[in-house]
Amino acid sequence: PIIMTQSSFTHRDNLKYPYEERGLQFGDGIYEVIRIYNGEYYLLQEHVDRLFRSTAAVKINLDVTKEEMTHLLLQLLERNKMTEDGKVYLQVTRGSAPRDHVFPEGVPANVYAYVQDLERNTEKINTGVPTITQRDVRWENCYIKSLNLLPNVLAKQEAKEKGCYEAILHRDGIVTECSSSNVYMVKDGKIYTHPATNNILHGCVRMRVEKFANELGVPFIEQSFSVEDIADADEMLLSSSTSEVMPIISVDNVKIADGKPGNITKQLQQAYMEDAN
Ligand code: PDD
Repeated sequence: PIIMTQSSFTHRDNLKYPYEERGLQFGDGIYEVIRIYNGEYYLLQEHVDRLFRSTAAVKINLDVTKEEMTHLLLQLLERNKMTEDGKVYLQVTRGSAPRDHVFPEGVPANVYAYVQDLERNTEKINTGVPTITQRDVRWENCYIKSLNLLPNVLAKQEAKEKGCYEAILHRDGIVTECSSSNVYMVKDGKIYTHPATNNILHGCVRMRVEKFANELGVPFIEQSFSVEDIADADEMLLSSSTSEVMPIISVDNVKIADGKPGNITKQLQQAYMEDAN
């Protein structure tokens, strides 16, 4: 068939992307972003475990086991002679088939993963970042690392347009997480973060932050806090595979404490550095 694009009509074979692809047409897929330091994965097993939790949750069948997927991912770094800091983006969709909401039968998942160089964001990690708050308008299964990222994309863009790094999302005033990271408040020497329910992504780095806090003897309390609570926070921070442990120095133009990265945040960053290297 002849396909219409914005600027021309063309035969479908000339299109550079597969248009009948469920990831593209429905966002019908899931993904992972895995950090690499000095050519080695950080938290690989945690990411592979979450990948399989996501595919199971959306009923996508993979033809490989967790062990085989892990092996493939390790080979990907070898084949690319990866020795630097970077990340792997891995995507799994329900495959290519004529558009129909119902699952296609006998169609294999489309899987790809690729390596990208990524330097550590040392400047922001040291100085901390400004953020904004925004309503969390996502669905109720945010624990699935779904390709449906439009609300996240719009939230992050809004943050950027306001000169900020991240958008802190809230449901009816209760803080859930950020557009692409988990978020924490430190108050009176304790770390508070939204419990790992269906309303947030269970971050791999978040699991480590809990472990670091335990090792440091800092209470890690899985109890949500509100946007109002932020006004009295001693420290705020966020975490993700790409942002690592990142201090938040302001929220909606209001400084957190003295507007500098806090002490507990710095200790967590130190623990992260030791763990990742
Ligand atoms: N984002 N919450 C959301 C909504 C995320 O998208 C992410 C990760 C996290 C942190 O998860 P982890 O610690 O496993 O990286 C929390 C990735 C980095 C991304 O979408 O690029």
